[in-house]
Amino acid sequence: MGYAHDYASAIMYRGRVPMEPVDFVPDWADRPRKAKYYPGAETLPLPDPEAGGPRPAAGFTLPLLSGMLQDSYGLTGRRLGVQANTDLAALPHYTQANWSRGTASGGGLYPVGVYWAAGAGGPLAPGLYHYAPHQHGLRRLLAGDVTGDVREALGHGPGEGSSQYLVLSVKYWQNSFKYNSFSFHAVSMDVGALVQTWRLWARAHGLRIAPALWFDEERLARLLGVAPEEEGVFAVLPLEWEGDAAGSAAGTPSAGAGVRHRDAERSRTVLAFETLERIHAATLGRAGDRPAPGALDAAAAYPPRGGRPVPLPAPAAPPMGEAAALRARRSSFGRFDATRAVTAEQLAAALADCAATRPGSEAERPGGPPLTSLYAFVNHVEGIEPGSYAYDAEAHALRLVVPGPPGPFLQANYFLSNYNLEQAGAVLVPTVRTTAVIDAVGDRGYRLMGAAVGAIAQTFYTTAAAHGLGAGVALGFDNVSYAERLGLADTDEAPLLIMLLGHERPRPADFRHEIA
Ligand SMILES: Cc1cc2nc3c(=O)[nH]c(=O)nc-3n(C[C@H](O)[C@H](O)[C@H](O)COP(=O)(O)O)c2cc1C
Repeated sequence: MGYAHDYASAIMYRGRVPMEPVDFVPDWADRPRKAKYYPGAETLPLPDPEAGGPRPAAGFTLPLLSGMLQDSYGLTGRRLGVQANTDLAALPHYTQANWSRGTASGGGLYPVGVYWAAGAGGPLAPGLYHYAPHQHGLRRLLAGDVTGDVREALGHGPGEGSSQYLVLSVKYWQNSFKYNSFSFHAVSMDVGALVQTWRLWARAHGLRIAPALWFDEERLARLLGVAPEEEGVFAVLPLEWEGDAAGSAAGTPSAGAGVRHRDAERSRTVLAFETLERIHAATLGRAGDRPAPGALDAAAAYPPRGGRPVPLPAPAAPPMGEAAALRARRSSFGRFDATRAVTAEQLAAALADCAATRPGSEAERPGGPPLTSLYAFVNHVEGIEPGSYAYDAEAHALRLVVPGPPGPFLQANYFLSNYNLEQAGAVLVPTVRTTAVIDAVGDRGYRLMGAAVGAIAQTFYTTAAAHGLGAGVALGFDNVSYAERLGLADTDEAPLLIMLLGHERPRPADFRHEIA
């Protein structure tokens, strides 16, 4: 049995048995940057994204890729609204400004590094580029076609005919300076959230993006020039590029090419955390470990539990498209107000969209069973009795698990003070059979689970924004209490995230400051 089982269990019980290092206090004055900084590399500005909203495209182009990066990890505005987070007083100070991005991220730390391995036939000189979110530009880190190396690292599997690849890495310190051992759990969801933004964005343009999660990770770390024990390479995304003929652009592997630039770390002291190092090492990727098709069937979500199905109405049609919703999306952070109830159609839309969300990786069989189940704690939804329900996606219905208002339970099991969960219309909870997934595909399955839940979180935010509702997702809750409440304590089904949906107080204090 690998270490991922131990880590999953420690995460699950951390509200009752604190993880080491207990009493850790982050050194905020010495915090790392929210993006990598390569002082020696030239930054090329990205072109303006295509104007006029999404329309079907034959493949990615540079303006399209620019638009996708800007709407996902690019800075789109400054957050100045009054909310209930403890950092509120700092926000007006420019040096501590918070910038909005299309993708949610645990703690607002955005630890995912986006690299573009550009091959021949594309718009740029072949090379390896790093996306600089603060400049919305590309830093050239290496000149020359390294797509052959990426293809070899993928074991000549997914994306074999592509000439352009995005590679996603996580420099753990960018997150672990705050979350230490917990960091891995959070960043694996951050990766899923970012990939899901891209999947939604690409879908609106008639394109498809599918992440590969199994590849020779250490080889790619060498190519990116990052320390393989400090940084995880989580996903490779082959892009359908306009004008690419399948197999036409294969660069030859370059035998040992690697970036020589190093990002400049801002922190004077960088700490290592043993648990984080162990789970990173346990989940290291190898192309040879790629799961066989159907391997995940053994970890399929259980049939929905609970009482007889109570049918939900058809999901409301969203008044806003996905691309616009990504711009509108933000966390409610304490602004929920139950004076206006959520409609059953709105709840139905959030449930249906989240249930339809998949990580889309090569480990999943097309049409295969879902890995996640969904539960809904209903506080204030028109026409639905308060209670804790399981969502039956096939029947598009709720099944009662525990009757009665869940507000006191929700609030008692939330660790932070920035939300009153009782004021949300409903709280949705995705679960995954953690033990079964790891047993089915090995320890790297932990990253797949993170990708699955992170993807659901991002869908949730986007759907809520499209319907004009407030949203907030949170990891700061006692997972075990939720498992007990839902009757999952004797199973391997683990509640992994809470997702709050509701109306916000009218006329909130805010200051509009869009920059893109
Ligand atoms: C995986 C994940 C975990 C999160 N956990 C929490 C949490 O425990 N509490 C909370 O208030 N917000 C949480 N958030 C929301 C982030 O704090 C938020 O996305 C980030 O600060 C950026 O703000 P925005 O969503 O308004 O753009 C989480 C987000 C993600 C993606």
